[in-house]
Amino acid sequence: PNPERDRLLQAYEWTAKFYHFLLKNTEHGKAAMDYLRSRGFNDKVIDQFQIGFAPDRWDTLVQFLTKRSFDLHEMEKGGLLTKRHDSEEDYLDRFRGRVMFPISDRNGRIIAFAGRILGEGQPKYLNSPESKLFNKSRILYNLHQAKPSIRKLRQIVLFEGYGDVISAWEAGVQNGVATMGTSLTESHAALMKTMADEIVICYDGDRAGQAAAMKTIPLLESISLNVRISVLNDGLDPDEFIQKYGADRFNRQIIDGAVSTTKFKLIYLKKNHILLEEDGKIAYTKEVLPIIAALASSTEREVYLRELASELQLSFESLKQDCNEIRQSMQKNM
Ligand code: CTP
Ligand code: MN
Ligand code: MN
Ligand code: MN
Ligand code: MN
Repeated sequence: PNPERDRLLQAYEWTAKFYHFLLKNTEHGKAAMDYLRSRGFNDKVIDQFQIGFAPDRWDTLVQFLTKRSFDLHEMEKGGLLTKRHDSEEDYLDRFRGRVMFPISDRNGRIIAFAGRILGEGQPKYLNSPESKLFNKSRILYNLHQAKPSIRKLRQIVLFEGYGDVISAWEAGVQNGVATMGTSLTESHAALMKTMADEIVICYDGDRAGQAAAMKTIPLLESISLNVRISVLNDGLDPDEFIQKYGADRFNRQIIDGAVSTTKFKLIYLKKNHILLEEDGKIAYTKEVLPIIAALASSTEREVYLRELASELQLSFESLKQDCNEIRQSMQKNM
């Protein structure tokens, strides 16, 4: 038994309910509600994800917790409050003027918050500090709600952000989780492996997101998870894609249409080259042939080589010959 931990869990649970109430039922929450509506979040998902609002005041939560006899020092250590700089005993709300997303552990106990500023401003998200309860490198947002769908499908859709998970849920993708502003860790990967056989990486369509997807592939493949990657264009993130094009197209194009890791690497590396120029064609070929050459199945190698040949208007035979040479030198070096 750990009474301090239990008190903190209790505080998080009540605080989440309180913020959710303030969002939905008070004047304080009105601007935040408008903001959420403008992003396409309806009442149903606001309830489902227990989204809330922390008013832009110094002591809303301090008063709430005081009335319920919580020890404020304990609450500060647990990440709900901060200390005033000029005083030992005065505490302030940590989250002010932010839309609050509760973060739960895999059993559905709330252990942290992410607070989003309304509109523009820095930092965009303010997270609870890491604590005994909250270890970012082990927590996947929404895992507790996604578990049944994950177990059924043996598949996880991995997103970057809260909004992506929530909009995808609304669009019918209920096996979605997200890391919390950190890249995927080995313990995230190991945890996913206990529940699923396949991961669909559905990161943002900007450069950072696509680069992060490239980095995540080897980590997941090293523990024999099947990996497919969603290709988002125009720098859109999944949430923005759904708001712009709707649920059906998201399911078809982005989830069902997620491509193999090899295909994704070819698409990703292509962006660095101008394929209309001889130099670009040759440089691109040099980058991608080793990737194709490393594939164990000759059918797979043939599929990608044929695609490459037709895209670059080169002969399949010459690509195949180069590929075989690379493959032989790879095998020699093994
Ligand atoms: N993140 C964070 N702190 C920041 C920025 C990002 O913790 N200052 C984390 C959040 O978990 C965020 C994720 O990284 O959801 C992805 O970042 P980004 O794509 O920039 O944000 P979005 O999720 O798209 O945020 P929004 O749609 O609310 O603008
Ligand atoms: Mn509710
Ligand atoms: Mn991003
Ligand atoms: Mn994003
Ligand atoms: Mn977004």
